[in-house]
Amino acid sequence: MKNSSLLAALCALALTATQAGAGPIPRLVSKDGRHALLVDGKPYTMLGVQAHNSSNYPGALPEVWAAVKDAQANTLEIPVAWEQVEPAEGKFDFSFVDTLLAQARQNKVRLVLLWFGTWKNTSPQYVPAWVKFNDARFPRMRDRDGKRIYCLSPHGEETMKADKRAFTAFMAHLKKIDEAQRTVIMVQVENEVGTYGTVRDFGPKAEAAFRQAVPPAVLAHKKSPQPGAASGSWSEVYGPYADEYFHAYAIAGYIEEIAKAGRAVYDLPMYVNNALRDPVEPMAPWKQNFSSGGPTFDVIDIYKAAAPHIDIAAPDHYAPESNKVTATLDLFQRPDNALFVPEMGNSAVYARYIYQMLGRGAIGVAPFGVDYADYSNYPLGSKLKDKSMAEPFGKIYAAFRPMAQLWAGWSLEGRTAGVAETDARTPQTMALKGWNITVSFREWQLGERSEADKASGKDAPPGTESPSGGVAVAQLGDNEFIVVGQYARLRFGGAGANADQPSMYGRVEEGQFDAQGRWVMTRNWNGDQADHGLNLTGKPVVLRVVMGTY
Ligand code: DGJ
Repeated sequence: MKNSSLLAALCALALTATQAGAGPIPRLVSKDGRHALLVDGKPYTMLGVQAHNSSNYPGALPEVWAAVKDAQANTLEIPVAWEQVEPAEGKFDFSFVDTLLAQARQNKVRLVLLWFGTWKNTSPQYVPAWVKFNDARFPRMRDRDGKRIYCLSPHGEETMKADKRAFTAFMAHLKKIDEAQRTVIMVQVENEVGTYGTVRDFGPKAEAAFRQAVPPAVLAHKKSPQPGAASGSWSEVYGPYADEYFHAYAIAGYIEEIAKAGRAVYDLPMYVNNALRDPVEPMAPWKQNFSSGGPTFDVIDIYKAAAPHIDIAAPDHYAPESNKVTATLDLFQRPDNALFVPEMGNSAVYARYIYQMLGRGAIGVAPFGVDYADYSNYPLGSKLKDKSMAEPFGKIYAAFRPMAQLWAGWSLEGRTAGVAETDARTPQTMALKGWNITVSFREWQLGERSEADKASGKDAPPGTESPSGGVAVAQLGDNEFIVVGQYARLRFGGAGANADQPSMYGRVEEGQFDAQGRWVMTRNWNGDQADHGLNLTGKPVVLRVVMGTY
């Protein structure tokens, strides 16, 4: 055999080996309006943490892995920056990505990579210097008075082409180094896009586009919040909302170009994250109160119309009030939009929301800034920077981890529910088939506390000084449940076909699932341990509860 044909044969062999080694690519699936992320072909619950913004360098990684371990996370979200991979135009350096993936595999952690490109929290701070300081080629937006502002314009064709080329090179590199192992399971395109202080671009290109008719795809997806023309210009159709909606359409279209090109090379699920607008404020046109054009809840439809290669618009939670968290989850969880929480504050008050989020069917969740770089995210997050910051999340993830795959499957089938203690701290009821589960908070494990004591906080159990309770439940059969939670008391009562029937526990087994998905019990709760409801302390436990009527 000639050398050249030997080489060709070896290449063909290597190609076959790679293809044979490649597991199924991660993807999102939907069923009856619910969703799951499949990793290695199986449902996956992302028990995630996000690293600090500047931890995307090899020297910073040891502090990241240590926190990932303490948080018991199965997934790390971490940036890959345009400035880092293309410091000189057309010259790519993916050495950080190589190091990151090798270390993630050693640590047995999956990755969600965050493409910090044209926009990072709306700013061009992560673009390479050759983009940052060339305003003629990569134009910034103009405000209403025609003045340049900080934010790069989504109408900058050269900017979009350059970002697209870098992103595509990044995705091609990922395919090359990760197709066989699928360490990277999702990619975030840009970060918290939109613009602060100016509602849209008023430059000449944007002005011309603004006068055009609203595209049919947008008309089909997005109704005006107030009566307007059925078709026509943005102003005719959307009235005082036109500027914001036009800007959302421009940014979503820009992101679509990038995501589409990246997925053509390596088709991983992709999402955008959102710096939230207030979810409980009455709907009103933009008034400097959020980043205009970002995927806020009121323009998810525009993103769906303009960016079909983006699977999810995902909320970043930095307002800890329970009514706001719930309102935002209600707005982002939709049959056409899987619930995924890529960021939330890393202070302990957020930990309880994991039960609510995973209970209601989120594909994953991640507190932000869980890494031991010497940096605290207070007041957005925790004052703490060490193990004690990771610990409230770690103990919950430790309880979920052995059943994470089962949980994602149950959630896709609509078997799960969850609650987090509200700021009002009042009991909540989860309605399941044939049974109601009432969850109350600030209880001891035995006996009843007076409502007056609860209200005043007198004699409160340790750990319940501020809201900390949460419960998630999966109904496996008519009378069989898996319960996981903390700082909460549960009482089961018959409902539906079981209403008015006296009932009692058949079994209340504490235990866990093994690697084969079999339940392994450690003990059965009875007597004092079940006489006063099922009382979960600050140490999350998993219970298998079997109810019966007589
Ligand atoms: C939200 C952003 O998406 C993150 O990158 C980070 O800047 C946090 N805010 C603030 O810590």
